[in-house]
Amino acid sequence: MADLDAQKETKDYYLDVPVRREAFFLKGAMALDWGMLNRLSRIFSPASGRTVMLAFDHGYFQGPTSGLERVDVTIVPLAPYADALMLTRGILRTTIPPAYGGGLVLRASGGPSILKELSNELLAMDIEDAVRVNASALAVQVYVGGEFETQSVTNMTKMVDMANRYGIPTLGVTAVGKNMVRDAKYFRLACRICAELGAQFVKTYYVAEGFETVTASCPVPIVMAGGKKLPEIEALEMAHRAVSEGAAGVDMGRNIFQSDAPVAMIQAVRKVVHELTPPKDAYDLFQTLKHEQKKG
Ligand code: R5P
Repeated sequence: MADLDAQKETKDYYLDVPVRREAFFLKGAMALDWGMLNRLSRIFSPASGRTVMLAFDHGYFQGPTSGLERVDVTIVPLAPYADALMLTRGILRTTIPPAYGGGLVLRASGGPSILKELSNELLAMDIEDAVRVNASALAVQVYVGGEFETQSVTNMTKMVDMANRYGIPTLGVTAVGKNMVRDAKYFRLACRICAELGAQFVKTYYVAEGFETVTASCPVPIVMAGGKKLPEIEALEMAHRAVSEGAAGVDMGRNIFQSDAPVAMIQAVRKVVHELTPPKDAYDLFQTLKHEQKKG
């Protein structure tokens, strides 16, 4: 037991030191609770304010797509270079080492496969399981303009309500139906709907014309979706344009894991996103690392 007689009488209350008041580094986060902010800090780097998320949740509707046939072989070596992983709970539990220390953004909606109408999703994960696996955020597809628009929006709002109770952020993922035009007008609408209805961050595609209006009109951070595989220099240019035009990072899958040098590619993407390195210089780094890794 502590010896009460030996307690020091003099105490210093630092009356001349003002209390530190630091604004949180992400936009739209000023009214969020501590746990939510701590989880967002596992996804977004407090140093740069941006994130490189590695997306490999494709199997939830596509099965073993190219590059994801053996996640243990192709993705686990990339994990240390990502700020956060975007994945399903099935791959998390079966394949990702529990000592992984980065952010975990878990796919929480699903239902239809590529053989059916994709917008017909429901919630596919309970909040208790998200807490059990220590999720940093939960991702729900939102099909604005899609056949099951209202259902997918309701999936997201239900998840926001559940996840808010536990301080877990919700990622609204704008999913573009087959017949939708991918332009700034559409993405302004889709991203704003996600944010207005409670998503703490939003994932959306890059558009060459007016992307800065998509980020400006969305009151929460936007991460750029990767999309189909491009030549590496073009993917780096797209990432650079996105962050220069207001994105708080990227969530890339195929453009990293379908590269012929994925470990080199994710490092080049990091340079662009966190340091705003010009794409040409990041591409040179990609080539150098690729040759080194081939030799080693
Ligand atoms: C997209 O909505 C899904 O989450 C995908 O499974 C994945 O994130 C797509 O990644 P990428 O288009 O960069 O391969």
